[in-house]
Amino acid sequence: MLPKTMRINNKNHLEFGGCDLVEIAEKYGTPLYVMDESMIRENCRSYLQALKSHYQGKGEIAYAAKAFLTLAMARLVQEEGLGMDVVSGGELFCALKAGFDPSRLFFHGNNKSKEELISGLKAGVGRFVVDSFSELDALSVLAQEMKTTAHILLRVKPGIEAHTHEYIKTGQEDSKFGFGLERDGVLAAVKKALTMKGIALKGLHCHIGSQILDPTPFAPTAAIMMELLQRIREVFGIVLEDLDLGGGMGIRYEKEDEPVPIKEFVALVSQAVQQEAKKYNYPLPRLILEPGRSIVGEAGITLYRVGVIKNIPGIRKYVSVDGGMMDNIRPALYRAKYSAVLANRAREEATEVVTIAGKACESGDILIKDIALPPLKEGDLLAVLSTGGYNHAMASNYNLNPRPPVVFLKEGDDNLVVRRETYEDLIRRDIMP
Ligand code: LLP
Repeated sequence: MLPKTMRINNKNHLEFGGCDLVEIAEKYGTPLYVMDESMIRENCRSYLQALKSHYQGKGEIAYAAKAFLTLAMARLVQEEGLGMDVVSGGELFCALKAGFDPSRLFFHGNNKSKEELISGLKAGVGRFVVDSFSELDALSVLAQEMKTTAHILLRVKPGIEAHTHEYIKTGQEDSKFGFGLERDGVLAAVKKALTMKGIALKGLHCHIGSQILDPTPFAPTAAIMMELLQRIREVFGIVLEDLDLGGGMGIRYEKEDEPVPIKEFVALVSQAVQQEAKKYNYPLPRLILEPGRSIVGEAGITLYRVGVIKNIPGIRKYVSVDGGMMDNIRPALYRAKYSAVLANRAREEATEVVTIAGKACESGDILIKDIALPPLKEGDLLAVLSTGGYNHAMASNYNLNPRPPVVFLKEGDDNLVVRRETYEDLIRRDIMP
């Protein structure tokens, strides 16, 4: 289950992205996020290539920045020719600072502030993904004031429930996101948008959830959305050009996880949309997909130094590491499961079952419960796998721990793209009374 570019070298050390991880940990310290840049680029290319082969390239892959965003990442995404989904003024700011083409940005959010809407209009973002009637009103007023036009997609809840964690499924009716399919829902929003000044309606959007390993719900979702486009054509006599089906493709966290390869996933979605378009004799819409985790997730790992080991006879052995829920909140928040490997004696056999605990001051800070590893010693280097998505992005300073740096590895080269936070950083915003 090791990531594609991970191997064991002749020093019995783990190697990732062509770099010896023991050396990388010594150079940058731990805890440390490392990402294989080539793997990220390859995933971007797989998406684009698949869209080309299966959908005549008539679309856009908009990387979902919420999974992982830094200036270096924004630049990489731009270099690879993807668009980007941003969901806050902060993500928008970072994208623009990196020189990202604003016309390829999709601006999301269920409660964008007036300031965020203004920033988006000023920048000239390609699409606002409008989530509510109030946003529609606000955007129209602001666009007119600023003498510009907001190009929008309407976010729809297609009523599909994906098999994933409660907190990260989004397409069902009972959701804070988007317009429903019912009477006062999306059709009313279309009607309103069409009469509004400063608003140009370009298409529809939906997103059914995240970390979806079984792709079955994507075809019915495409069918519902195409039916909706058809109804809009019937009722209002307009053909909308964009169909954005969101992100959500899952990745491998544990051996048992079997994600669908990117190419197959894109093929499945493309075929579903094409089939439905044909059924209604509807011009093929521009297909937009917004993958986040499946681009960065498996390309990232976190390196930790093993500290205190506590054996409670007959109960469990706790191995504490120098990070925890502050750099990876996902186990505590979603009961997410991870796998890990020993990086400094990589060939040693996994003969002991232990629990990997974080250093935060609460019992719930467990990174991995019951994992088989070689007998660990203080000072060992542990690599937790598949931490490239929603780890750095969701990191906190809980217990006033500085956040780890991010290093991009590329065929033997290492580049620091986010420096380690310092104690000074931690109090930079404080004001002494
Ligand atoms: N598009 C929209 C509108 C989204 O809401 C999301 C994720 C994506 C795209 C990207 O989804 P992905 O391809 O990464 O699954 N913090 C959670 C994940 C929340 C996802 C929220 N929306 C986690 O750590 O699992």
